[in-house]
Amino acid sequence: MLVLGIESSCDETGVALYDSEHGLVAHHLHTQMAMHAEYGGVVPELASRDHIRRVIPLTEACLAEVGLRLADIDAIAYTQGPGLGGALLVGTSVANALAFGLGIPVIAVHHLEGHLLSPLLATPRPDFPFLALLVSGGHTQLMAVHGVGQYQVLGETLDDAAGEAFDKTAKLLGLDYPGGPTLSRLAESGDPARFTLPRPMLNSADLDMSFSGLKTAVLTLVRQQEAQQHGTLDEQTRKDICRAFQEAIVEVLVKKSLKALKQTGMKRLVVAGGVGANRQLRAALDQAAARRKFEVFYPPLALCTDNGAMIAFAGAMRLKFAEPAAGFSVKPRWDLA
Ligand code: KG4
Ligand code: ZN
Repeated sequence: MLVLGIESSCDETGVALYDSEHGLVAHHLHTQMAMHAEYGGVVPELASRDHIRRVIPLTEACLAEVGLRLADIDAIAYTQGPGLGGALLVGTSVANALAFGLGIPVIAVHHLEGHLLSPLLATPRPDFPFLALLVSGGHTQLMAVHGVGQYQVLGETLDDAAGEAFDKTAKLLGLDYPGGPTLSRLAESGDPARFTLPRPMLNSADLDMSFSGLKTAVLTLVRQQEAQQHGTLDEQTRKDICRAFQEAIVEVLVKKSLKALKQTGMKRLVVAGGVGANRQLRAALDQAAARRKFEVFYPPLALCTDNGAMIAFAGAMRLKFAEPAAGFSVKPRWDLA
């Protein structure tokens, strides 16, 4: 079974081919980051127009790479939501039109399910059941995953998602969009001992989290340091603040994950979503795993952020539930569980 996957929920056009026998055979991605950078964030209308420009050439590039034709595809999976309405409509329209033309099934995929299952594209791959720490720009959740489609939310952020906190904090530190990865790079040469920021809800009895207060604490710290430094932060201070922020967020994510593992008795932790690319988070989880005797799994680094491969894969997993191609809709807001 050869499944074409199309992702267009935000600012990345991703297209991939997943073969149920041979695994991921091709994946191509176009990121719109440079286009949105001059506006300091994603401009939805520009995102939709760019997806329109990219989606067909990326599909052709995937097929050409492995010497196949459209007629060789057995099913098409696309991100139906959540995401930007106009952006979602591009992938949805192309997927439905192609599937209708080819007379093959079309599979509507939940974007978070794509992230959630993406560690199964790595080797070694985790067996079910597992605990998932889903940390993206739009969501931060701890989930018990018993099988494909069997998801139970155990805890989640009550306000900002972890990636959103990275991006907003980066912005107030004057870093260019998208700031999360830049902030984390600067944090690596920051001094963890110079500043200490609050760990919101670290010791709450539940598995919920909260990150918006952390951003406010950074703002207060930045103002205080700017006042001491006559208006502008020196480079080392900026790095030290980045480090203090990252220390706080990583500690909360690790502690809540450990608590969830204990509560569920699960022995496997899967990390998914863009923040899963964070090196300090990975190192802290690896250390905890060695100490507490559980296994931790990550998607391949290139598949942490949005991509078509995870959608093709989730589509292949879901093929048996495929809807007929007649009629389509997008779901900009959509809970996975
Ligand atoms: O999963 P994703 O591509 O998009 C959503 O579905 O939201 O995640 C994007 C998020 C952004 O907020 C970005 O700042 C964050 O992941 N991110 C990182 C890193 N790389 C991406 N955050 C921290 N450290 C990183 N290395
Ligand atoms: Zn995503």
